[in-house]
Amino acid sequence: MYLYHFGMRELPFSLTPNTNFYFGLPSHNEAMQVLMTALKTGEGFIKVTGEVGTGKTLLCRKLLNEMPDAFEVAYLPNPCLSPEEIRYAFASELGIKGLTRINQQQLSQKIQLKLVELNQQGKGVVLVIDEAQTIPWESFEALRLFTNLETESRKLVQVVLFGQPELDEMLASERLRQLRQRITFSYKLRSLNIDEMNAYVKHRMVMAGYQGANVFTPNALKAVFKYSTGVPRLANIICHKALMLTYGEGDHSVDKKHIVAAANDTDGVIKSSRRNVWLLVFSVLLSCIAAVAIWQAPYLQGAN
Ligand SMILES: Nc1ncnc2c1ncn2[C@@H]1O[C@H](COP(=O)(O)OP(=O)(O)O)[C@@H](O)[C@H]1O
Ligand SMILES: [Mg+2]
Repeated sequence: MYLYHFGMRELPFSLTPNTNFYFGLPSHNEAMQVLMTALKTGEGFIKVTGEVGTGKTLLCRKLLNEMPDAFEVAYLPNPCLSPEEIRYAFASELGIKGLTRINQQQLSQKIQLKLVELNQQGKGVVLVIDEAQTIPWESFEALRLFTNLETESRKLVQVVLFGQPELDEMLASERLRQLRQRITFSYKLRSLNIDEMNAYVKHRMVMAGYQGANVFTPNALKAVFKYSTGVPRLANIICHKALMLTYGEGDHSVDKKHIVAAANDTDGVIKSSRRNVWLLVFSVLLSCIAAVAIWQAPYLQGAN
């Protein structure tokens, strides 16, 4: 691979959300602040949404790493679970023993006892859920019921939901109106702007051990931004492929042509500006046809 060629210890653009590579982008730092503040207030639900690849899982892991000692954490990375399964998963994350051969009522009692016990030890419980858009409708109710448990001053359980924009669509539905009202803090991750993207790419190179001058030329960086549309995961895929191509050519500098070739080889990337031009021509044509149709309508009616 290209590690030795560029003098790096690790792959700089691996897709694993590794918190060692965390770069304090404004949007991500703000999200962390919102999360920490929200946890301190002790309210029910907290929500972080963002498009695919914008860094939700990475933030989720960072939150788990940095969770203050006053909280006991339960983590559900794959919450596509029935209400019963959600209760079991939550109980097992809390370290509750004796979960076999008990019914749902006994399970709920065990959870409640554990929450009270933790509360007496001065600990709040945070249930952190990634991919929350995959939670089945009926399971949201199980989550809401957890947050019903409270002392006079605070909830015994707080739930942090990380999810794609579909989560917002689900929450807008009448079925989830009760839960929606419990969301006291929310944050929407945005994609990176061009300056942030440039800094992001450089940061990942440095974290991987690269020490030389800029590997990516200014035109290459512009192209990374354009093809990734500011989405970190797409940028990672493109940069990784571009580094491989550059290495394959025995070169030491990644140029625009490497990025374009990498982007053309990547799913989910708008391939070339020519496609955009055709889309524009097509939509202008459609608008013209619509305008002519509207303009002709009264004459046609008159003719009838
Ligand atoms: N602030 C950041 N610093 C470093 N890497 C990031 C950052 N945000 C996103 N990434 C990287 O982008 C990729 C996609 O992030 P991920 O958390 O998997 O996105 P999501 O869960 O929203 O689909 C991962 O490789 C992740 O490490
Ligand atoms: Mg994710």
